[in-house]
Amino acid sequence: MNKMLDCSGKVVVVTGGAGRIGKHLAQAFALAGAEVVVADIDEKAAAAVSDLLQQQGHRAMSLLLDIADESSIVQCIALLKARFQAIDVWVNNAYPRTADWGVKLEDIPAESWRKNVDMHLIGYCLCCQKVAEHMKVLGTGSIINISSIYGIIAPDFSVYEGTAMTSAAPYAAIKGGIVQFTRYLASYYGPSGVRVNSVSPGGVFDNQPGSFVKAYISKTPLRRMATVGDVAGAVLFLGSEASAYITGHNLVVDGGYSIQ
Ligand SMILES: NC(=O)c1ccc[n+]([C@@H]2O[C@H](COP(=O)([O-])OP(=O)(O)OC[C@H]3O[C@@H](n4cnc5c(N)ncnc54)[C@H](O)[C@@H]3O)[C@@H](O)[C@H]2O)c1
Repeated sequence: MNKMLDCSGKVVVVTGGAGRIGKHLAQAFALAGAEVVVADIDEKAAAAVSDLLQQQGHRAMSLLLDIADESSIVQCIALLKARFQAIDVWVNNAYPRTADWGVKLEDIPAESWRKNVDMHLIGYCLCCQKVAEHMKVLGTGSIINISSIYGIIAPDFSVYEGTAMTSAAPYAAIKGGIVQFTRYLASYYGPSGVRVNSVSPGGVFDNQPGSFVKAYISKTPLRRMATVGDVAGAVLFLGSEASAYITGHNLVVDGGYSIQ
């Protein structure tokens, strides 16, 4: 392991750590030597991820966290401070959404808009607010917010033609907000030694319909969809000393999709 990417001695929290991308983020930091906290609203799935990491010889634990509940965030941070003293890296990766996520823009009820923005955008904001204050006291720390290419560019809806897929409208508002709030935080906490960056992945391959994959990769200069490993590499970089002078950056991991 390159020394700059070595995370030995660091405590790294991955929210949504039991999810498709989250478990790979947890593994990447574990492989880099960190003590990993798999924090998720799905307690059982989080425990399964941390058990697996432990079986592989890594240091890991799971924690019940609901990012939509301020008291849950406060409790988690207090518990981790008591256990480890320092939280070095916090990755906001959780993906809460309502049951009607993905309905057509014109059919989204106001309550659904509110709930999604509240759970996802405000959830990320509250996690940042609470953990940044802890890191400020330490005088060091790295926060990484997972956004999306749809936080920086508009979807080309033609890639979804002939499938039941779409890009949910609130996602644009939420992920765009996360990128911009990351810059605010980086400016606010920079003098305290706390770095805040975002990562904007393109679509991660997950056995989507063939017509979608074909259309999507034809618009992607690297001619493939993202892998979970592609995202994990970028997040590990931003959590490690290799990125010590980088803050307020939005690292786009999309094979070039957004450049055209
Ligand atoms: N999958 C993609 O193609 C893609 C592309 C770009 C960005 N992203 C982003 O990557 C992140 C992870 O996405 P994913 O595809 O792994 O999603 P996923 O649905 O597989 O996993 C999300 C995880 O978040 C957890 N979660 C949901 N609500 C929560 C809450 N209130 N508190 C704590 N945990 C909660 C879930 O239990 C789950 O384990 C998201 O921020 C998503 O927007 C995904």
